[in-house]
This record gives sequence, C-alpha cells and structure tokens, in this order.
Amino acid sequence: MSGSGTKRILAVAGARPNFMKIGPLLRELRDRPGFETYLVHTGQHYDQAMSGGFFEELGIAEPDANLGVGSGTHASMTADVLRAMEPILIEQKPDALLVVGDVNSTLAATLAAVKLGIPVAHVEAGLRSFDRGMPEEINRILTDSVSHWLFVTEPAGEENLAREGIDPTRVHRSGNVMIDTLTANAEKARAQDTLARLGLEAGGYAVLTLHRPSNVDDPAHLRALFEALEEIHQRIPLVFPIHPRTAAAVEERLGGRKPSMMLLPPQGYLDFLCLMASARMVLTDSGGIQEETTVLGVPCLTLRDNTERPITVEQGTNRLVGRDPETIRNEAFKILDGPAPEGRVPDLWDGSAARRIVDVLERDLAR
Ligand code: UD1
Repeated sequence: MSGSGTKRILAVAGARPNFMKIGPLLRELRDRPGFETYLVHTGQHYDQAMSGGFFEELGIAEPDANLGVGSGTHASMTADVLRAMEPILIEQKPDALLVVGDVNSTLAATLAAVKLGIPVAHVEAGLRSFDRGMPEEINRILTDSVSHWLFVTEPAGEENLAREGIDPTRVHRSGNVMIDTLTANAEKARAQDTLARLGLEAGGYAVLTLHRPSNVDDPAHLRALFEALEEIHQRIPLVFPIHPRTAAAVEERLGGRKPSMMLLPPQGYLDFLCLMASARMVLTDSGGIQEETTVLGVPCLTLRDNTERPITVEQGTNRLVGRDPETIRNEAFKILDGPAPEGRVPDLWDGSAARRIVDVLERDLAR
C-alpha cells in the first residue's frame, strides 16, 4: 500500500477488446486526486493494427510496462503473463489490481495479484456463455471466483454470480465501460471519411467479423460458412475487416481460394465504429460488437450458438443465429427483406460506467 492517502491502482490490458474498456477507467482514475495509476500492457496483442493504434486513437497514455508476451498457446501465454506480472506487483505494491474482460491476460494478471494478497477489481464480471469449450468462459469463471470487486454490465451477470455463491456485497451493476468509449467517440467516428474512402454508402453494405475458433478452426465448417456469406454478399456488399487469426485460417483452410467479400485489414477504432454505425446490419462472432450494435441500434446477427450478453438479444438489436450456414443466410435475407429489428439501450449503458466504478473503489479503499 502507498504510504500517503493516495491509492495506487495497477491496471492491466492485453488484447484488442481490453483497450476500449481500460481507457475510460484510466481517465477517471487520473482525474481524481486520490489515485495513482500504473498501466501494464501484457503484449498479448502487439502489432499496430491490433494494439498500438488503439492507444493513439483513444488517447490512452503509453503503458508504464510492456510484458511483451506475444502470441502462443493458451498455457504459455497465461504462464508468461503470470510470471512477468509477479515482480511488477511486488515492486509497485498497488492497493488494487484493475482488470477488464475475459482474455488470457485478464486471468493471468488476476492470479498473480491474488496470490500476493492484492485485491482485484474485475470490470465486466458475471458474463457466462455456459460453454466451457470457449477459452474466455474459463477465464471469466476463474477471474470472478477470486476477485474482490465484481462490476457487472447487465442483470444476468448478477444472477450468474449469485448462482456461483459470490457474496452479493462484492457485486456492483455499474454499466458498460465499452459503451463509455463508444459514447465519447460516436460523433468523431461518424465524421470519419471511412465510407467515402471505401466507396460505400450509408445503409448500402453489411459488416462482417469472425475470429472465434468455433467458426474458423474447422476447414469444412469454414468452407460452408463462406459459401453462405458469399450468397449474402451477392445481395449486399459484405465489408470484412479480417482478424489475423481468421486471415491465417482462411489462407490455410480455404485451399488458396480468395473470398469475394470486401476484405480489409483490422480497422482502427474510429473507422470500425463509423462502419458499424452506418451499416444495414452486422454479422459477427465477437462479444463486444453485440453490445456496440445494440447501442447504435444496428441489427446484429451473432454467428454463435450462445451469448454471454443476453441483454443484447432481450432488449437490443442482436439475434443469435447459430453456426448453421443456411440459417445464417436466411436470417440475413430476412433483415434485408423485412423491417429492421428494433431495440433499446440497456439501463446504465449511458457513458458513465467508469465514474460509477471508480466511486466504489474510492469509497472502499478509503475504509
Ligand atoms: C484474443 C482473445 C479473445 C478476443 C480476441 C480479440 C483470449 C483467450 N482470446 O483472441 O477473447 O476476442 O483476442 O482480438 O485471450 N496476432 C497478430 N497480431 C497481434 C496479435 C495476434 O497478428 O497483435 C495473431 C497471432 O499470430 C495469433 C492470432 O493473431 O496467432 C490470434 O491471437 P491471440 O491473441 O492468440 O488470440 P485471439 O484469437 O486474438
């Protein structure tokens, strides 16, 4: 613990979907005199397109330390972060560790901290897909089970944690920090020239993202999925910013055949937000994109059998369409032919989640 009344928070980010979540939290902490922050980038994502660009666009200060773990198997990545975090935690002596999301870096940093007696605040706690074949589900369950503060985005998160026997006084429904970033950047994103540069018209295209092992790892499934997507592309241009994991899978598993969709490299935050905001629909297997389209009011088809974010289906514009290629094509055609599904923005997804979270930390750490 720091000697003065100032509380020291060590924040961790590692992979692309972490950066837009940690940004508003760091800003809120740095705006308050009672806190000092130290940011560790684990280096799970490391190139400009997947990492560096987001720090610049989102105005996140340079990390104080970069562990440089890079890609690898789940075990080696998790072990590398765990081993590299320990000396930093011992040296920095934070009053709390702040982690977001469900990536390998989230779990590894959490484990290193709790073993040193450092309390962990987990932002985006309680989400469950109930699919233990998903690496993220394991990360979620384990991180939540040892965290001191659990900040949840939707009521299902509270129910899941209660079922797992987590003390309810540790659970706080605080809203969605990813939406804090969206709210703060929406106007800037809409002013981007992304559409003109790509020769697209608002409402005249759909956006596709794919990276989950369940969609891209099996060659036969990937081929069938791409046939259905290409049929959709015949009716509306599909803009496909391609994740490095998917690019590698497509090259290896489609036998050298180039997909006909509009392939783009991974996009920056503002370009991607601009693309989503004006799309006729979004097809995705991402978690965060289900939430962002709900707030943007853009129809979203989720190409998975489950979602850990049920509120996006219950209240938002998201539909869970599974992995069957024919069903995916039919559901996409329904959106093109029919009225767009309407939704509403869930409670507390209002741009102020980081403020609520830091209020709780400030109160509890002063005790
Ligand atoms: C990770 C997260 C996933 C998240 C996704 C978002 C876990 C378990 N998974 O999965 O939850 O939705 O990030 O992107 O933590 N690569 C690059 N450049 C980079 C990073 C990776 O080219 O900056 C390549 C690597 O060669 C690697 C592949 O992308 O093989 C996949 O990266 P990896 O971090 O292993 O997992 P993701 O599938 O991205």
